[in-house]
Amino acid sequence: MANMSVTASPLTELEARERAGAAVRKGLAAYPKHLPPWLFYDESGSRLFDAITELEEYYLTRTEREILARNAEAIVAAAAQGARVRIQELGAGSAEKTRLLLQAAVDRQRSVIYEPIDVSASALDGAREHIERDIPGVHVIPRVMDYTQGPALELDADHRTRRLVAFIGSSIGNFEPEQAGRLLKRIRAGIQRDDSLLLGIDLVKNENILIPAYDDAEGVTAAFNLNVLARLNRDFGANFDLNAFEHRAVWNGMRSRVEMHLESLRPQRVHLPELDMVVEFSEGETVHTENSYKYETAQIEEMLGRAGFAPAALWTDPKGWFAVYLGRAE
Ligand code: AVJ
Repeated sequence: MANMSVTASPLTELEARERAGAAVRKGLAAYPKHLPPWLFYDESGSRLFDAITELEEYYLTRTEREILARNAEAIVAAAAQGARVRIQELGAGSAEKTRLLLQAAVDRQRSVIYEPIDVSASALDGAREHIERDIPGVHVIPRVMDYTQGPALELDADHRTRRLVAFIGSSIGNFEPEQAGRLLKRIRAGIQRDDSLLLGIDLVKNENILIPAYDDAEGVTAAFNLNVLARLNRDFGANFDLNAFEHRAVWNGMRSRVEMHLESLRPQRVHLPELDMVVEFSEGETVHTENSYKYETAQIEEMLGRAGFAPAALWTDPKGWFAVYLGRAE
């Protein structure tokens, strides 16, 4: 069992390529040009993201980790309410921070079922092996799935345990607020009353803190952003010149989001033969590659409430930069 692989079937990989191709075709034909942020995460993009999480300027990961480390016991106890918990995670990736919750659950109830959901089968395979080896008592049941698709996030009913659905890392920040609200409703529709949602979300703060987090001195975030063009070269035979584009990070205060763009440094024409596409760029034209929405606590509580969750607890860091909410399904 422990070695059973969840690696995607070739059909799934073909579907992933189709999906990426359709998004690229649509985004680069539009004006202004844009690409979806999930395209960042090919193998080198995932490695670059891991490097971002270790940057001095990128406060998000370490701040959330500190909050979880300090409060893991309280979080699990609040979710359990005297019963046993099982933990589900959306967009689990390498599940590095979730270990803190899993360890707290094992300490409390000796064993725990952990169901990570991710579109990346390889990330899930890796997480499963390491977690089952490092934290005895954790039983990992990975699911390769795109949690943004479908009407509700149906989970098999299990009346003896309470579910804790973890949606951490401020992944919700990539969604438009309206989409984010819909996603929370879908999560709520798939669980029972008194189950819980653990939502980790980055808060609005001074631009002087926000911008360096998305435009670091070493240029790791620039490389992460530019990698999406390298990916199009690799996957679709495109001929983007990575030296002819520059990384830009801007704070859009009106919409409360950090935006990332790639700016064309000269007029140029790019071929994407495998998508039957030629794309023209004027000098200074940009491709919008990501939004990272930043919230106020009042907005988060309102969004939770509208989705059917009572904001049962809020944990934050001493500077008040990052919020971890426990929403209780009502
Ligand atoms: C993984 C979406 C939370 O928006 O902060 C990091 C991705 N982009 N640096 C974020 C990201 C640029 C990250 N999220």
